[in-house]
Amino acid sequence: ERIGAVVLAAGSGKRMGADIPKQYLALCGKPVMVYCLEAFEKSRVDEIVLVVAPGDRAYCRKEIVEKYHITKVSAIVDGGAERYDSVYEGLKVIHCDYVLIHDCARAFVTEDIIERSIRGAKGYGACVVGMPVKDTIKIADESGWVEATPRRDLVWSVQTPQSFSYPLVYEAYTRLQACDKTGVTDDAMVVEKTMQARVKLIEGSYENIKVTTPEDLLMGERILQSRKK
Ligand code: C5P
Repeated sequence: ERIGAVVLAAGSGKRMGADIPKQYLALCGKPVMVYCLEAFEKSRVDEIVLVVAPGDRAYCRKEIVEKYHITKVSAIVDGGAERYDSVYEGLKVIHCDYVLIHDCARAFVTEDIIERSIRGAKGYGACVVGMPVKDTIKIADESGWVEATPRRDLVWSVQTPQSFSYPLVYEAYTRLQACDKTGVTDDAMVVEKTMQARVKLIEGSYENIKVTTPEDLLMGERILQSRKK
């Protein structure tokens, strides 16, 4: 059974406020997006499809894939305007039985998390790594008044990889094309919404953060330093 990974690196990274997209920013001497590619390279994933911003394919081939010897990349494709468009472009070209969809901004994903995700995809058909929230969560109305307080012990904050049987997630994304896509922010939602499939939450890590704003770069450096020991 073939395992594939769609790695998303087609975002503009506006919230970082830097001149270049966050996936290319250096973190301890290497571009942010290299770290997750190294983790997938070491894992038992067979194939990686890398989705990049239109115009960045040649740069990524030379400066990321070749320079850091990521041999499992089978294709580099152009992403779309929204994350879900980029995912669909990656799913169209990958050849596998199970697929892990991963945001390259989650640079600190480990081989353990990848392994749990592969097992989860095989065992449940659809799984997402996440962690129980530490904060109490409030659902607000549009003016910032509290509408509801969900039970904290049932609330998870979800990460990537989000992992699926390939036929399930490909069909889900194909059906999504005919639906209203507003508010679609992760892959699990797409299979929940279009396939009525159940998604299992599995353990990620509090270190599996998404590098989004400048504070995250500092936190990232600390995580990488602690792993060197
Ligand atoms: O913006 P956000 O941090 O939620 O993006 C999550 C991931 O999706 C990032 O890795 C980003 O590069 C990717 N993305 C993409 N195509 C888009 C928007 C985001 O591949 N159009």
